Amino acid sequence: MAEIVLENLCKTFGNVKAVDNLNLKIKEKEFMVFLGPSGCGKTTALRLIAGLEKPTSGNIYFDGEPVNDLEPKERNIAMVFQEYALYPHMSVADNMSLCLQVDKVPKEKIVKKLKITAGILQIEQLLTRKPSELSGGQQQRVALGRAIIRNPSVYLMDEPLSNLDAILRVAMRAELKKLHEKLKTTTIYVTHDQAEAMVLADRVAVLKDGKLLQMDKPRKIYDRPTNKFIAEFVGSPKMNFIKCSLLEKNGQIFLDAGPFSLKVSNGVWTTMKNQAPSSELTMGVRPEHVFVHTKKEKDSIEAKVYFFQQMGNVGYVELGLGNDIQVTAAVKADFEKNIGEKVFVKFDKKHIRFFDEVGEKLIA
Ligand SMILES: Nc1ncnc2c1ncn2[C@@H]1O[C@H](COP(=O)(O)OP(=O)(O)OP(=O)(O)O)[C@@H](O)[C@H]1O
Ligand SMILES: [Mg+2]
Repeated sequence: MAEIVLENLCKTFGNVKAVDNLNLKIKEKEFMVFLGPSGCGKTTALRLIAGLEKPTSGNIYFDGEPVNDLEPKERNIAMVFQEYALYPHMSVADNMSLCLQVDKVPKEKIVKKLKITAGILQIEQLLTRKPSELSGGQQQRVALGRAIIRNPSVYLMDEPLSNLDAILRVAMRAELKKLHEKLKTTTIYVTHDQAEAMVLADRVAVLKDGKLLQMDKPRKIYDRPTNKFIAEFVGSPKMNFIKCSLLEKNGQIFLDAGPFSLKVSNGVWTTMKNQAPSSELTMGVRPEHVFVHTKKEKDSIEAKVYFFQQMGNVGYVELGLGNDIQVTAAVKADFEKNIGEKVFVKFDKKHIRFFDEVGEKLIA
């Protein structure tokens, strides 16, 4: 188990800044997820930590010791690559246990570890096969097995579940979480799947264009994303955004969105006054914080049903407020309104977030 510190870490390829001044501390025993869209530098950051790439500048420390000059094998890490890189001529069992064989671990111990690891990954029946006789998802599980069979200081995992079908993926991520609960090995896990990040992480580091945008507990990132990009990237369906202006009327502050306006409490107003660069803002509200009523209520906003999606135990309805505003609301799966019908909407005020006009900064 190790604490990992990244200090002003940069990696450029030609004129691409793959990792751009990353500063991060991954605590001992922590499950850290690097989350971000394709090309944001997740794999590069992981390869730098593994020692497979040399930083252009900056430092990496394991337990306070600089590791910049250490070879990958001197860092005591186990890595699962985005491509599985299995040895084609070796059986699954040998692929998984090679590192233990090299370390001269007694045979009985290897057999026992193989059995446990293959059990966790549901590949017991595949141990004698060669990689070419496996599906992509099976190969991916073998690659995962090869890492978890060891007892390293750090696990580095690069989208290790991306080739599994939906059911297996959910099962495997639960297994990984349980495994981490048990072993408490410091883990850095790379994914572009926000749901996976939410489930697995102790903390999530959101990356974009090589830069760290936000690092926090999953719930905090979901509740208080520090900009609009994160608010959209985390959560499905994504947060609704509505452009609005701050307005003063008879000593009371309102947020005017055109077809509706909302009273702003003194607390929120004080924060906004200090933080907002202008009176033009973007309001953000998640679908589960948009309440749909069939009858008009106090302070409810009239809306029209555009579209309804039933997703098994829940439904999502797209609503039009006035001519220009469209919001998605989470509703019960048995929602019974047809397209074009009138409904009434209320927002859960506690959960409304405000960003500056362009959405670069969370204001309140
Ligand atoms: N060896 C390389 N040579 C040149 N450019 C590279 C190299 N490796 C990565 N890049 C570039 O660096 C940026 C970050 O790539 P990286 O593979 O780290 O992204 P990623 O977040 O892992 O993306 P994905 O989710 O698609 O795997 C990209 O713009 C990529 O094109
Ligand atoms: Mg990658």
